[in-house]
Amino acid sequence: MTEDDVNLEARLEEQDTFEPPESFVEQANVTDEGIYEEFEENWPECWEQAADLLSWDQEYDTVLEDGNAPFYEWFTGGTLNASYNCLDRHVEDGAEDRTAIEWEGEPGETRTYTYGELLEEVEAFAATLRDLGVEEDDVVTLYMPMVPELPIAMLACARIGAPHSVVFAGFSADALATRMNSASSEYLVTADGYYRRGDALDHISKTNEGLEDVDHETTTIVVDRLGDDLDHTLEDGQHDYEELVDDNRGESVEPVTRDAEDMLFLMYTSGTTGQPKGVKHTTAGYLAYTAWTSQTVLDLEPGDTYWCSADIGWITGHSYIIYGPLALGTTTVMYEGTPDYPDKDRFWEIAEKNEVDVFYTAPTAIRAFMKWGKEYPERHDLSSLRLLGTVGEPINPRAWKWYYKHIGGEECPIVDTWWQTETGGHMITTLPGVNAMKPGSAGPALPGVDARIVDAQGEEVEAGEAGYLTVQKPWPGMLRTLYQNDDRFIDEYWREYSDPDADEWVYFPEDGAKIDEDDYITVLGRVDDVLNVSGHRLGTMEIESAIVGVEGVAEAAVVGGDHEVKGEAVYAYVITEDGYEGDEELSEKIVEGVVDAIGPIAKPEEVVFTPELPKTRSGKIMRRLLEDIASGNELGNTSTLRNPEVVDDIAEQVQGD
Ligand code: WTA
Repeated sequence: MTEDDVNLEARLEEQDTFEPPESFVEQANVTDEGIYEEFEENWPECWEQAADLLSWDQEYDTVLEDGNAPFYEWFTGGTLNASYNCLDRHVEDGAEDRTAIEWEGEPGETRTYTYGELLEEVEAFAATLRDLGVEEDDVVTLYMPMVPELPIAMLACARIGAPHSVVFAGFSADALATRMNSASSEYLVTADGYYRRGDALDHISKTNEGLEDVDHETTTIVVDRLGDDLDHTLEDGQHDYEELVDDNRGESVEPVTRDAEDMLFLMYTSGTTGQPKGVKHTTAGYLAYTAWTSQTVLDLEPGDTYWCSADIGWITGHSYIIYGPLALGTTTVMYEGTPDYPDKDRFWEIAEKNEVDVFYTAPTAIRAFMKWGKEYPERHDLSSLRLLGTVGEPINPRAWKWYYKHIGGEECPIVDTWWQTETGGHMITTLPGVNAMKPGSAGPALPGVDARIVDAQGEEVEAGEAGYLTVQKPWPGMLRTLYQNDDRFIDEYWREYSDPDADEWVYFPEDGAKIDEDDYITVLGRVDDVLNVSGHRLGTMEIESAIVGVEGVAEAAVVGGDHEVKGEAVYAYVITEDGYEGDEELSEKIVEGVVDAIGPIAKPEEVVFTPELPKTRSGKIMRRLLEDIASGNELGNTSTLRNPEVVDDIAEQVQGD
């Protein structure tokens, strides 16, 4: 490092507030800080600004219908179609030849779809779905890797009013079956496989295994992604994507008019109990909110090339690869593979080649880039970038500053966006052309979003004190319910701090947080039994039930331990059944059991066998203690335990490794 570098490094290290660069502010979509007051004074009508970004078949008559809270409804009376909003209207406006999707496969081939071409593909696939019998309101499951056919299928579903339920391709066969059964989904679109680190991965065997456990008849469409790299045969009730679509190319399929509150999609996510929750998002509120946040937070404009490196199998991909950016008419980049193939500069190569303007990724990726070193981004010209974003987990200031300096060249603001599957879109973040940035703190709540930090009694805490994050007013992108489970919806999100008798409803996202004097919120992480591994949400209960399903396991406790790159890693503490040995073989079976039930992302970092779990006198497992052991933290007082002697034993095993 040169002396200049050292000085810079030292300055960055100390600096805790960063003003948005002038060059960015000059062109930003939002620069007036008056927007906060304007939204507050004019709430909920302020959200008409979001609705105005959409094209409506019929105008709505009510912005917010709160008569049946917390089952809020937005833009009621209005009708529209999401696929029309993401495609047709841009084509009608003369943007037919503008690129909608710029896709790159891991082996290096690319495919470009203009808005005109994408519309054609979507219509052809919509016609195909109809031919197969899909009707309005049928749930279509999409178990697909990052290939263009995935967004095509999503938009085709939206076009004919069939809600999609995308299941992350990395999830297991079991996870697919559970989700298809839960949604009574009779249609599945999948692929034979995909490329990962140079290998052709078989996806169709996993699909078929999952289908065996689906308790109703299904029709499956298979995208042939791997060609000669993987032979596959179609079984009964399975069709080849290309063959069907070829027959329908040139078909025109009118977008179905949907009610504002009709379901656009379902997305299963992890919660406290073993059963994943089917989060229901509806058409108008969700689309308006993702479009509005794409414009205000991601600063997107039609001419931009924008890249979000998430997988479409998660909410980030739904909202900010597909719906938000396409509703605005932006060019969205999609990449199939990993960031380190063939080398660790793959992302920067893609960013340079496509002259990406705005880049959005997760802290876990940034920590990996940091570990690999700045020489990889330095190989490329990243000067096209104007804004950076992060999502999925708290970002530590060191990673933030590395991103700011080595990717953004100190010329790009960073938006650290806090939100959830349930919120549909961004909730807490700076507006990049308005607010100063404080590394590690997401920022203030967005205009119109009423986020407050409260104590266990629901009273607001002082600046600097840790408490619970709550949202005290509804917002257009909010989930409407959990699929066919209104009671669980209330239990999970509205029980804690609401006062139903007074009709006061407070949304509880199950995150801890603190707020400073400038109303900047630092999110501290989940306060329920949900882990955040590499920005992926995993329920400890789901993992535990997979582990106790393994022969020889009597009891298991799963917790998260600090991990340098992943943020959190899965630690499994396991008691064996009588007659079983806690050995390498059982440990492998446990890992396999978790991979089968959920997927490789939930793999335990470590399986620790123990004769007992530390329990309180009332018999509750002391998870906090197990977390401290996993993270290598100083262990607090253990005298309140019924069995304090097991603690040292367990700690020795974990730390001895
Ligand atoms: C966490 C992902 C800190 C949080 C969009 C939340 C974050 C959960 C941030 C939702 C952030 C997300 N800072 N924590 N910027 N963004 N989280 O549903 O714990 O996969 O509750 O949605 O991720 O994860 P989900």
